[in-house]
Amino acid sequence: MASLRVHYLPELVAEAKLAGGTCVVIDVLRATTTMISALAAGASAVLPCLKIDDARQRAAGLLAGQAVLGGERGGVLIPGFALGNSPAEYTPEIVAGKTIVMTTTNGTRALLHCQHAAEVWIGAFVNLSAICAGLAGREQIDLLCAGSDGEITSEDVLFAGAVAARLSSAGSYTLNDQATLARDAWLQVSASEGAALKPRLVSALRSSRGGRNLIALKMDHDIELSADIDRFALLPRYQTPTGLVTAD
Ligand code: MLT
Repeated sequence: MASLRVHYLPELVAEAKLAGGTCVVIDVLRATTTMISALAAGASAVLPCLKIDDARQRAAGLLAGQAVLGGERGGVLIPGFALGNSPAEYTPEIVAGKTIVMTTTNGTRALLHCQHAAEVWIGAFVNLSAICAGLAGREQIDLLCAGSDGEITSEDVLFAGAVAARLSSAGSYTLNDQATLARDAWLQVSASEGAALKPRLVSALRSSRGGRNLIALKMDHDIELSADIDRFALLPRYQTPTGLVTAD
């Protein structure tokens, strides 16, 4: 039977344990939502970097005018960078045809934790259905949540749960306990009666750790954008040999 494992933090799974499988990296608020939005706006690729200095050097090594530096520290724009980490900033006018050289506190770190996986995909609510469709039929699935500074974050766990719920209702998977708990958490949000799903998801994201940070920074609008389920039918993939994230 196919296996579906959720990992609530990169620290909870050794890189070697991800070898051979399909790994979906999740940082709903906001790194993976922003990467998907950038590619949907026509960026040719995202180049994730661990450190600010690496990002600056990699950008300087690209052809003049090709790179756009983006990302955050403490949720805000990094000095000298063109863009922060809000999905709304990544418009076609700014990013079309460009390589986004990106560094974020937790999301790019989680992505680079998956170097040994056979495939690495970028997931968030904005491409939920594309991720689920791509995963159908895969034998070893790992959903890796970025968390925040070593703390588990419910926004990432909820997305992992949404994927686990969809896949396990359509096929047979062996779930690890983190996947079962994530699925149950998602079912609680998605199955409540009354309001439509989006307001319920926005409310759950607002009360998450990442949501509370964004509210404190007066960036609430990013929560709404991140809760826009299936806004994009894109399946961005991280190509280990080049270090680039590109979309089909
Ligand atoms: C991260 O990588 O930690 C984030 O995406 C945080 C943020 O967007 O502020």
